[in-house]
Parts: sequence; structure tokens; C-alpha cells
Amino acid sequence: MNPAPLTNSKRINERCGMNFLNIAIVSSEIVPFAKTGGLADVIGSLPAELSGLKCNVKVFMPYYRAAKKENFGISLAKNNLNVCMQGKDFGFSLYQCKSKGVDFYFIKKDEYFDREFLYGTPQGDYPDNAQRFGFFANAVLESLTFLKFKADVINCNDWQSALIPFYVRFKLKDSALFKKTKTLFTVHNLAYQGLFPREIMPTLDIGYEFFTPEALEFYGKFSFMKAGIIYSDAVSTVSSGYAKEILTKEFGCGLEGLLYTKKDSLFGILNGVDYSQWSPGADKFIVSNYDVKALKNKAECKKDLLVQMGLPVSPERCLLGQVGRLAHQKGMDLIVDSIEDIIKLSCNLVVLGAGDEQYHRVLTALSKKYPKNISVKIGFDNALAHKIEAGSDMFLMPSRYEPCGLNQMYSLKYGTIPLVRATGGLDDTITDYTRDPARGNGFKFKEATKEGFLGALKSAVCVYSDKNHWKKLMARAMGFDFSWKRSAQEYIKLYTALIKK
Ligand code: ADP
Ligand code: GLC
Repeated sequence: MNPAPLTNSKRINERCGMNFLNIAIVSSEIVPFAKTGGLADVIGSLPAELSGLKCNVKVFMPYYRAAKKENFGISLAKNNLNVCMQGKDFGFSLYQCKSKGVDFYFIKKDEYFDREFLYGTPQGDYPDNAQRFGFFANAVLESLTFLKFKADVINCNDWQSALIPFYVRFKLKDSALFKKTKTLFTVHNLAYQGLFPREIMPTLDIGYEFFTPEALEFYGKFSFMKAGIIYSDAVSTVSSGYAKEILTKEFGCGLEGLLYTKKDSLFGILNGVDYSQWSPGADKFIVSNYDVKALKNKAECKKDLLVQMGLPVSPERCLLGQVGRLAHQKGMDLIVDSIEDIIKLSCNLVVLGAGDEQYHRVLTALSKKYPKNISVKIGFDNALAHKIEAGSDMFLMPSRYEPCGLNQMYSLKYGTIPLVRATGGLDDTITDYTRDPARGNGFKFKEATKEGFLGALKSAVCVYSDKNHWKKLMARAMGFDFSWKRSAQEYIKLYTALIKK
């Protein structure tokens, strides 16, 4: 009998006798369905890359209102599924869609997830986040059971899915389906730990015997994050720099001691970039596409951005861009404190962000005080984020810490030179041009001080004032390639090692 035609890489690999890995990935946000930050970008692109590299991938997230609003072709997979916690039933439905060869599943429970925001309002977190994400972890495992998906590895991401390794180890220890399942817990940001009062534990089917400092207690609170770190088979984070940093007091958020005990199974895998979304040649949000050979089109993008942001159209004046969560992490205060100096250095600034209300107020006040130099948009706006990448001359990321950071890698591709603080993934991806002119692709400073930041900005502005010099730097930056393939291969290596463990 003739074999069936080879239609995809999966079959090719099967024919060659290569084993497929069954991977379940769990995340609280995924592009294009719902996004607040980089985690969504990562889980929006890694699974497709894995699926092209001998993996069967199933991805799980909550079915938020944001995902229901648009037509993503999501349809019902199964009604009347049930999670039982402390003898109480929590019914839910499972929805699904297929995208780029990957099965995405959505846990539908409207009382928890049909809300305006993902985790909380600008005033603070939703008070029932422990129940919401404790339920979510259970519902994902129940869905895997319904689907009879024998996952070789469940890759959980951040605190919202961190209870899964605990449940696999204890609650499901007699389940044949999960008998050989390994868990990988990926930390995208150690500072957000999912800490709740201990009284929540029994409602999540977790006994008080686990409320000890060796287990799930963290200074009097119950910690989701510790469940992920302690009970997973390995922990990874999103750059090798951050993997080292979190073993120190400065970056360990109180978990450095615990992480040190797991240092032999702690890995750093740099995030990749989805260049189908983030490159100036293909970007559907910008007014004029460009590449290194058509840089004059970037000038059009700058003009368009200045007009949209209500700043004078002064093409010669260096335009600094910033897009991000307005949180202490991102070092926004360094920019705010330096604003007069930024203007004196003949730069203008555009900022897009949402987050802490104190930054909303300060930034809005500054844009009113300096309307010809600073323009601020508070809110989440994907199209504008793309326009800022394309239309700015430099992109500022003075982060206090940065597990990976995606915008500096996006900026390189747009020829928008990143100015970053030397920390985590920023340090791993950006080489300082002043110190290393032969290889530099941006500007970098060490101390998280106004002086440190302004020192780097002065060097950058000096290079900017020499147009040919700057053009060469742009061309070099645009040549950097952080596509997912290499990182996805590292994930596969790690999954394979775990399976063999
Ligand atoms: P983090 O995940 O810590 O927020 P990253 O640099 O990894 O930082 O990723 C942030 C992602 O979120 C980028 O894609 C960035 O463009 C996007 N983003 C952040 N804030 C906003 C916003 N206010 N509007 C649109 N996109 C945003
Ligand atoms: C986190 C980190 C950021 C990282 C992103 C995706 O939100 O703050 O540095 O790029 O996750 O991994």
C-alpha cells in the first residue's frame, strides 16, 4: 500500500521515526486573544514554532471578555465539564480554535473571566484572583483529562498557572494520564507572586500541612509562585541574565534562597520575536513600510507619529519613544526626573502606557507643562505601540529589572536604537555602542540613577547628531535576528531532558 501523502512536518517526522512530544502550555494571556504585556506575545508565538519542530501543542487560557469581543473562530468543544474543590462543584465549558497548527483552548466560566480587565482594575487586583486562577489550574487539568491528552510536559507560566505542578504531584498522583507527565514552570516576572491569605488554601483543596516555610508559606501568606518553583520538575526564566540575577538578594524577591536550592534545574531561555508581527517591512499598523534599503519611509512614520501625538513636526529633533506598563519595574521615574535635561538635549518624548495611577498623573502633568516636547497617551493601544516603534529614533527602557524585555528586540528591527539599563534580558541583548563601537547595537547604563540614564542619553544624542554615523548604527541594529527558532529548540531540548529524567 502506498503511504498517505506527506502534508505536514508532523507526518514527515513520524515517517522518519522521530518521536513527537506532547506539550501542554498554560498561560493567563495570549496574543491575539488577550494581552497586558510580554507574556501574551511569548505564548502567542512560541507554540506555533514548537509545533513546527516535532511537538503536538495544546495551549490553555481563560476565556476572557476580550477574547469574546472579536471573531477568532472560537467554538464550543465541550459543555458541562466540572471541577470539584472541597466537595463543591465548579462547572465550566471548554472552547477551542486552531491557529498556525496549534490547538488553543479556552476555559469558559463567566463569573470569573467575563470581566473588563484580566487581573484587576486600575484601582487594584480583583479580590477573588486566588479563586479565579486556582479554579483555572484545576480546569486545565480537567480539560486535559477530557481530551485524553497525555502531556509529556505541562509548561506553566507565571503565578496564575503555578498551582498545576502541585496538583499534578498530589491531587492527580494516581491518575494514569498524568503518571509520566513532567512540569516546567517558566517565570516571566518573579515580582508578581500570587500571595493570598492562608484561609484560601482549603478552598483550593490544599491542606494546611503545606503552610510551612519549606512549602507554600511566604512570610505569613500562601504563595502560588512557590508551588510552581517547588513542585515543578524544572524552572526556567526568560533570559540567562535573569536566571542568574534571581539567585541574588537584589533580584530574588525573597525567593533567592529557594531558587538556589533548585539551581541545577533552573534554566534561562531568551524569548524570541514574532517578526510576522514586529518588523517594519510587514507591519500593518504603520503608515509606510520600510527596511534597511528604504529608510526614508521611516521618516514618514516619524512624521505620522508626531502628528498623531500632537507634537510639532520637526524631523531633525531626536524623538524618544517609550511603551510599557507604568510600574516601578520599568524605571519610568528616571525618565520623569530627567525631563528638563531631555528637552535641553534637543529631544522630544512620546510615551504610551498604563499602570500605576501616580505615573498617569505625573506624565499627564508633564505633557501639559511641555506640550511641544512631550506627548503621553495613557491606555493600552497596540496600533500606537507599533507606530512608536517605527516612528521614534530611540526607544527608552531604563528598567530596574527586566526578565527579558521584548521592546528592545522589536526596536532593533525597526532601526529605533534602544537605550537600556544593563539588567536581565536587556543586558543580554544590547551591547553598548560607546564602549564597543565594533559590535554595539544600542546604549546601555549600569546604575539606576538619573545620572546613569542621562550619561547614556548624552552619548546617544552625540552619535545621533552625525547622520551618517547614526544611519550605520541603524543598519546594524536592523540586522539583528532574535527569531523564535533558536529559543524554541532550547525549549525542546529542555522538555526532552525532563522526559528522560
Ligand atoms: P512586560 O511584559 O514586562 O510588560 P515586555 O517588554 O516583555 O514587558 O513586553 C511588553 C509588551 O506589551 C510589548 O509587546 C509592548 O509593546 C506591549 N505593551 C505594553 N504596554 C502597552 C500599552 N500601553 N499599549 C500597547 N502595548 C503595550
Ligand atoms: C514579563 C517581563 C518581561 C518579559 C515578559 C515575557 O512580563 O517583565 O521582561 O519580556 O514577561 O517573558
